[in-house]
Amino acid sequence: MAREFNQVGVIGLGTMGAGIVEVFARNGFDVVGVEQGTEQLERGRGHIQHSTDRAVRREKITTAEQQAIFDHVTFTTNIDDVADCDLVVEAVVESLDLKRDVISRLDKIVGDNAVLATNTSSLSVTEISAATDHPSRVVGMHFFNPAPVQKFLELVRTVVTSPDVIEDVEALAGKLDKSPVVAGDKAGFIANALLFGYLNHAASMYDSQYASREDIDAAMRFGCGYPMGPLALLDLIGLDTAYEILDTMYRQGRDRLHAPAPVLKQMVTAGLLGRKSGRGFYTYEAPDSPVVV
Ligand code: NAI
Repeated sequence: MAREFNQVGVIGLGTMGAGIVEVFARNGFDVVGVEQGTEQLERGRGHIQHSTDRAVRREKITTAEQQAIFDHVTFTTNIDDVADCDLVVEAVVESLDLKRDVISRLDKIVGDNAVLATNTSSLSVTEISAATDHPSRVVGMHFFNPAPVQKFLELVRTVVTSPDVIEDVEALAGKLDKSPVVAGDKAGFIANALLFGYLNHAASMYDSQYASREDIDAAMRFGCGYPMGPLALLDLIGLDTAYEILDTMYRQGRDRLHAPAPVLKQMVTAGLLGRKSGRGFYTYEAPDSPVVV
């Protein structure tokens, strides 16, 4: 019989975790949100406040619905408070050691029938699951940023994930108004494996002076109908983040498509991180305006 997911735990209330809490609470689930300290917990609560305030301003939800979201959430710094949860999603920082530590603790805290999920974007779900005594209940739930807005969800099955766990989580995704896809545990799953190979190639093309940054971006926007060119998108993601994701994927899969283009490392070392530092492939005067230098 399919599992009932009534209470859900989320570990780590940063950019993604706070969004994931909001997704579950908006859809009527009781959520236990866990952070490592009171300061981070308040920051996590603030992320949800900010995001739901904006949803109210845009008339996506009413103030009563905003209050109902908060009524569904218990904020805590004690990981043991997820003991009664049917599903726990970990969204702590992208570190294999930390994720393995968190998931093995969760494995000992939750009940036998509970499912454990990781929101990792580039690490191996198999390696994370191997830190538990029950790897068959571990699955990847890769939400996209911002989680309350993006409808897409990648579910990742390892070679030992139980088929019924995948089925139950897929059914749950429907209740969250998400369209899930199921992928195997390959570096970057589907979307990032394809996207970052492409972005990496664009950085190499730029570095070889084959074409100007404007022309590379224009080709993909106007020739292929992409909403943004690859170099502008790399600036938005952050070159340091893009480098880390590529490096992790390359070390995992040894696919040379993901071997980070040397220019990325050079730019990161020089402090050219993209929009967040004011300069990457483009120079930014204001956050939204690329300016040619
Ligand atoms: P973040 O740095 O914004 O948040 C991570 C949070 O985890 C922090 O608030 C930190 O205090 C908390 N944390 C660390 N150790 C903890 C512990 N032991 N117990 C409880 N909380 C702990 O990171 P972000 O961006 O939210 O990423 C989280 C995960 O989501 C990563 O695995 C990342 O790869 C993945 N992801 C990120 C996306 C993004 O666009 N930022 C998109 C999809 C997945």
